Amino acid sequence: MTDIKKGLAGVTVDETAVSKVNPDTNSLLYRGYPVQELAATQPFEAVAFLLWNGDLPDAAQLADLRSTERRHRALADDVRAAIDLLPTSTHPMDEVRTAVSVIGARETAGISNVMDAVGTPEENLERSIRLWAQLPAVVAYGQRRRRGEEVVEPRDDLDYAANFLWMTFGDEADEVVVDAFNRSMILYAEHSFNASTFTARVIASTLSDLYSAVVGAIGALKGPLHGGANEAVLHVFTEIGSAENVGPWLDTALAAKRKIMGFGHRVYKRGDSRVPTMKAALDTLVAHYDRPDVAALYDALESQFVERKGIYPNLDYPSGPAYDLMGFDTLTFTPLFVAARVTGWTAHIREQQASNALIRPLSAYVGPGERHVEGYVPDAADLEARERPEEAAG
Ligand code: COA
Repeated sequence: MTDIKKGLAGVTVDETAVSKVNPDTNSLLYRGYPVQELAATQPFEAVAFLLWNGDLPDAAQLADLRSTERRHRALADDVRAAIDLLPTSTHPMDEVRTAVSVIGARETAGISNVMDAVGTPEENLERSIRLWAQLPAVVAYGQRRRRGEEVVEPRDDLDYAANFLWMTFGDEADEVVVDAFNRSMILYAEHSFNASTFTARVIASTLSDLYSAVVGAIGALKGPLHGGANEAVLHVFTEIGSAENVGPWLDTALAAKRKIMGFGHRVYKRGDSRVPTMKAALDTLVAHYDRPDVAALYDALESQFVERKGIYPNLDYPSGPAYDLMGFDTLTFTPLFVAARVTGWTAHIREQQASNALIRPLSAYVGPGERHVEGYVPDAADLEARERPEEAAG
């Protein structure tokens, strides 16, 4: 009987130097640094540099990365034209996926041999930086387009997080909001072999190009069991309405065996290490916007769900309401996750390329046994091929 690891649970498929989830100490390390230390002290640009290069940047390296990021911030005409072809009712994850396809097609245009599209390590670092730099404009434009608002041009005097908020809302965000947003980007940037990163690595393992791998990763992230959960959390909050409704709402939801979005994790079973940092950022926003009702609903659902099921919140639980308070549309939450996670994905894609083995697992077949098409008569080549049995099935 084949031992099947459904969902690859508990399976170690490769080594990585990008990040480490240590469930025993409840820690998440990016290149060795605890993520909460990075979120408290670093701008997102420095963490992107760390993920790509292995170390935090010095002042000159950070200035250099920031200057490249600023040069590529504006919404490109071809990307805007492609998004404008889509109905405004398109889910923004589909807009972002389309935008990355357009950017990739443009950046790899002229490469006629598929063997060359994979690029060198240096080219792929540059592609990673440019792609990361372009995504905020895509996400910001998506929200503005849905609201019938004009594009807001980027501002060279603002850092990544402040400029992202500027391009989305068209006014300068308060420091407390910029800080919470910067923290969320850092916390979302990387998480070892999660489903979307693994998808990116599978695609990279075929020697396909970086953009194709990111497009696939975006598809994986869209699902509510993964990145889509931050959007789903807000739907749950809206459904419940207010703290006093939590009890009866949970009775019904649990009786219907519903999964409560924003709770549970494949790796962390005693609490997601990123939650306290994001919850602290949410608390600052609750105070800033004077919305104690949000905190009351958050606390009531968390305490009652943990008490009943013993399942703890994951990062999507505090980030959903935090993005809502900042003014992002609920539909925009998972694209924000893309803008952050593109750093981790591309770090993993380059790591996969540097030490590649085609990822191709086996399956245990449970369909009908061998049968034959009526009237088919095998020729000599077919008969000969059938005399060379393989060692493994799948
Ligand atoms: N709500 C209700 N029950 C949950 C739950 C949740 N959010 N998360 C896990 N459980 C229950 C399952 O129903 C299952 O119960 P059972 O053994 O009685 O069938 C048990 O806990 C184990 O869950 P399972 O889905 O097998 O664990 P997993 O490791 O495969 O799942 C998730 C991890 C993230 C997919 C799962 O917790 C989930 O669906 N969470 C909601 C979506 C979410 O927030 N995703 C973002 C992840 S960062």
